[in-house]
Amino acid sequence: MNEETKKKINERYQQELNRGEFFWPDSIFKDLIVSLGIFVVLLLLATFVGIAAEPKADPADTSYLPRPEWYFLFLFKFLALYGQIPVIGKIEWLATVLVPAIGIGLLTLLPLLDKSHYRHYSRRIFALTTMGTVILDIVLLTVMASLPVPPDAEELAASTTLQAIGGLWIPAAVLTLLVLIYAFRRGMFWESTRRSIPLWITVAGSLAMVAMTVVISARAAAYPKPEEVEVASTLVDQIVAGQDLYSVQCVECHGDDGSVAVIEGVEGLEGEEITPINSTDVLYTLTDSAMYEVIAYGRPNAGMTPFGKAYGGELSRSEIDYIITFMRYTWDDRFEAPEIPELFPPLAAGEVPSYDVHIAPIVKRYCVSCHRAGKDNNNYLMTTYEEILTTGDQVDNNIIAGDMNSYLLQVIQGTPIMDPANPTEELIGVMPPKSVLKPNVVDVFIRWIMNGMPRTAEEAAALFVEPTPEPEATPTP
Ligand code: HEC
Ligand code: HEC
Repeated sequence: MNEETKKKINERYQQELNRGEFFWPDSIFKDLIVSLGIFVVLLLLATFVGIAAEPKADPADTSYLPRPEWYFLFLFKFLALYGQIPVIGKIEWLATVLVPAIGIGLLTLLPLLDKSHYRHYSRRIFALTTMGTVILDIVLLTVMASLPVPPDAEELAASTTLQAIGGLWIPAAVLTLLVLIYAFRRGMFWESTRRSIPLWITVAGSLAMVAMTVVISARAAAYPKPEEVEVASTLVDQIVAGQDLYSVQCVECHGDDGSVAVIEGVEGLEGEEITPINSTDVLYTLTDSAMYEVIAYGRPNAGMTPFGKAYGGELSRSEIDYIITFMRYTWDDRFEAPEIPELFPPLAAGEVPSYDVHIAPIVKRYCVSCHRAGKDNNNYLMTTYEEILTTGDQVDNNIIAGDMNSYLLQVIQGTPIMDPANPTEELIGVMPPKSVLKPNVVDVFIRWIMNGMPRTAEEAAALFVEPTPEPEATPTP
């Protein structure tokens, strides 16, 4: 800094002082006002907008993918992309420690490195172009990190390559060029018009980076949407979800209403005496977390297999919680159950039920526990519309459109099917084996099969049968 500029700066400082603006308290006061404003905005956002909570944390869930907060996403993406670079991609400490350390170090040392007291771009070309490129890259990496996961390995590879080019290679090239130019900037060549070269390099690089990001985002927008994970949010939804899960997973041994005291018809557990799980003995003794443990870990010695995902079962943490909620609100007299909606909308006279609206929820509640892969069921699977119509040892007789003698209709009405080859042997027992369906549920099956098993609500509506009107009462004279 030469004497002249020093003098100029001192003069301006003196002028400011004369105008009466002091760091304390004037500037501090302004800072406080702005901080207060930001604080109020944060309060309002937290109160009225908030952020969606994830499901309850499950320390045993190994499939959970943790993600950093949004303001760290760029580092997260940087690490992911850096890992793709051949040869150096393997050296983790380089990316996790060295590069961020250099970045932070440079920022810390900035006041010593960039001592120019000018603010205009033409005097701070190097600092501003470098920082501009880095900030743009941070923004673009954050955008890339928020894109949905590619649907297949091929698209994953393509997208990763594009991201590496846009988020790593181009900015790296721009930064290298800037450093080189800065290192050789002296001389006439620099002092003449060529000062604008760094600007042009930065602009061209930035455009290329943005263009790559736009391409990547456009590809991502075309990905097929992943199936939404159903999260039951209200108490009623949780109870219903829990009941469905209970029906599929637990009815076999504990019965519809949890009252089974002696297990029947389960291979290996025949005649096993158990405490009914709807009894106060179980419900009052087991706290929710103890109940959770029993269901997640099972009672392997007693014959109850683990159900928690962490122990090789099928149920996630929240699913087990739903089952517990269902058990409490249905059997535990200390809990008052809310109004639970009907399993299916009641049928009007002449109305034909459909698979989608009526049969699917009924079958899920009463049949799927046994009629799915891996269970003893005469190979009759009932998890989809197709399976219901096309599987089973007795596939030709189970469901015959318009025939009241369909095996399915007989067994759900309490008539077992006897083996034609050996009339004293049951070919198919009554269904479901351990409980009796309510008359309105049986009625749905009858109307559905008698009307040709429509799948959708529209198909069923088209089959509506005008109910025969009651014969008009003849007026008595
Ligand atoms: C394969 C048969 C089977 C299935 C399926 C099954 N259990 Fe069990 N369950 C048992 C046996 C056996 C016991 C041990 C009973 C005992 O020790 O009195 C048991 C015990 C329990 C207990 C503890 C009872 C006590 O006495 O402390 C609970 C709670 C329970 N089961 C809930 C469930 C739930 C919820 C499901 C469905 C996710 C389920 N069970 C599925 C067989 C089964
Ligand atoms: C507790 C287990 C269990 C439940 C629940 C259950 N089933 Fe079954 N189902 C079986 C078994 C086991 C068989 C094999 C025949 C037998 O042992 O009686 C079977 C066989 C059948 C068959 C004959 C399949 C064939 O092709 O031979 C039909 C039809 C059937 N079930 C309908 C139903 C319907 C409808 C429901 C629900 C309302 C249901 N079942 C619920 C266990 C079950």
